[in-house]
Amino acid sequence: MDLSFLSEELEALKGMGRYRSLRRVSGPQDAEIVIEGARRLNFSSNNYLGLANHPAVVAALSEHAERYGVGSGASRLICGHMDVHAELEDAVAKLKGTEAALTFSSGYMANLGILSTLAGPDATIFSDELNHASIVDGCRLARARVEVYRHGDVSHLEDLLRQSSAARKIVVTDGVFSMDGDIAPLPGLVEAKDRHGAILVVDDAHATGVLPPHGRGTVDYFDLHGRVEIQMGTFSKALGTYGAYIGASRFLPLSRGRRSPPWGSS
Ligand SMILES: Cc1ncc(COP(=O)(O)O)c(C=O)c1O
Repeated sequence: MDLSFLSEELEALKGMGRYRSLRRVSGPQDAEIVIEGARRLNFSSNNYLGLANHPAVVAALSEHAERYGVGSGASRLICGHMDVHAELEDAVAKLKGTEAALTFSSGYMANLGILSTLAGPDATIFSDELNHASIVDGCRLARARVEVYRHGDVSHLEDLLRQSSAARKIVVTDGVFSMDGDIAPLPGLVEAKDRHGAILVVDDAHATGVLPPHGRGTVDYFDLHGRVEIQMGTFSKALGTYGAYIGASRFLPLSRGRRSPPWGSS
């Protein structure tokens, strides 16, 4: 098999300035890190609260590894659902002010899971143009129609919602945008999705642990408790570790339109 097309594609990426490579860090994440052997000030990490190497977090992880081991040994539906999973989900629900929470192995998996579960061919997803790549991939996996609205533009979103006759409408936005760092106009998005019977999903990967007054994310920041159907977030940014969660009601009331099963309606 001739694989020269791969090196041609890599050269093209380099030509466009889009080729990325790994830089090796020695030692823990901190305000100063040793990168490629040189000590540098670190303005790039998502370890916003310094928890990734906080002694209390490291001690808790070591203690739990002693008690439970380092792997669940099975999927949660078989015999891998442990006390610690249930305790973690209770803590997340409390933090987010939701009825329930569910953890995922990464933020990427959470966004894929949310969007492919909620949306199907009869749904339309309305997605901010600067949403994280995992949301873009979630939209693709859902096989739903996708309408991209201008960044943070509630009136553009409202126009698209008005024109849509989809059986199920899902609006999805980063809470704090991962690249630009600005905050989604959540009050306007909530009003718009309520007027058009849509579900709102907020990705608070960068808001959790960061936004005032309690570090609970954008819903708390705008005091919109109970008005956003799904709050998603990660443990890998301010919370310093790895994995992700969604906070929502125990049973999402998805009454508008029946979703066809992935294998087609019968
Ligand atoms: C806004 C946002 N959502 C989701 C993710 C994906 O999270 P993970 O790295 O845990 O897959 C990221 C990660 O950078 C992110 O910035």
